Amino acid sequence: MLRPVPDPSDRDPDATDCPLGRCEGNGWILTDAGEAIPCDCRERRIGRAISRGMGTGIPKKFRGVSFDRKPIADLDPFVLRPVRAFVEGIDRNVEEGHGLWFMGDVGTGKTSLAMLVSQAAEKAGRSVAVYPVTRLLAEIKDTYDSDSTGSYMSLFRRLCSVDLLHLDDLGAEKRTEWVLEQLYAIVNERWQDERSIVVTTNIVDLDELREQIGARTVSRLLEICGDPLPIMGPDLRVSSAG
Ligand SMILES: Nc1ncnc2c1ncn2[C@@H]1O[C@H](COP(=O)(O)OP(=O)(O)O)[C@@H](O)[C@H]1O
Ligand SMILES: [Mg+2]
Repeated sequence: MLRPVPDPSDRDPDATDCPLGRCEGNGWILTDAGEAIPCDCRERRIGRAISRGMGTGIPKKFRGVSFDRKPIADLDPFVLRPVRAFVEGIDRNVEEGHGLWFMGDVGTGKTSLAMLVSQAAEKAGRSVAVYPVTRLLAEIKDTYDSDSTGSYMSLFRRLCSVDLLHLDDLGAEKRTEWVLEQLYAIVNERWQDERSIVVTTNIVDLDELREQIGARTVSRLLEICGDPLPIMGPDLRVSSAG
């Protein structure tokens, strides 16, 4: 029989409940012999600590995102079915390195859907890094700066090790050989390690996307995320304003 180690009074202020419901939130479990063994949530806590400060986090606008609220509640239920299934199995999906890929015109709800997935992963205690791709590339460039606080390798390692990497608006960046190389390096490394990626892109034609971000990267993303889910419909930004 395993019992949670009682919560000490000097509890880490960042500690949260055990996402697995096994320990008291301190990352340790007591065996019958009185030995403290690490709870499986410890690795997740360490991962979350590593990912802290990466990307934008879930931006304020998307923090309350849910299937019951606009704009997601207004989307075609047929489109939502696989997203719901993915979110319901978020722990296993992240564990097995599966992802999702939302493709469609501007304002159709892609970023909201991807945020919903990222939020579910965070709630499951997983480490998540949310990045508009243009910002990700800017952060990588910044590490080349001699005054920069972090090294390229450290950022690269963290990008490859978070449980879920959310790449928003892929293909919106200016296409250069350097950009193609960066995207491939990250996506390929994650593909090799079977780590999840959630992607949104406005480019609805796969050939055009291959041209924009490189065929090898697209091919890896297809393996991780499966076929892109087309998110079609009116620009919700325009219709909600009008
Ligand atoms: N919390 C929210 N409540 C209501 N509408 C929202 C909310 N968040 C986003 N929206 C609206 O949903 C629409 C789609 O947003 P978004 O998911 O960013 O689309 P896309 O990524 O496809 O461009 C926009 O009109 C946006 O303003
Ligand atoms: Mg978007």
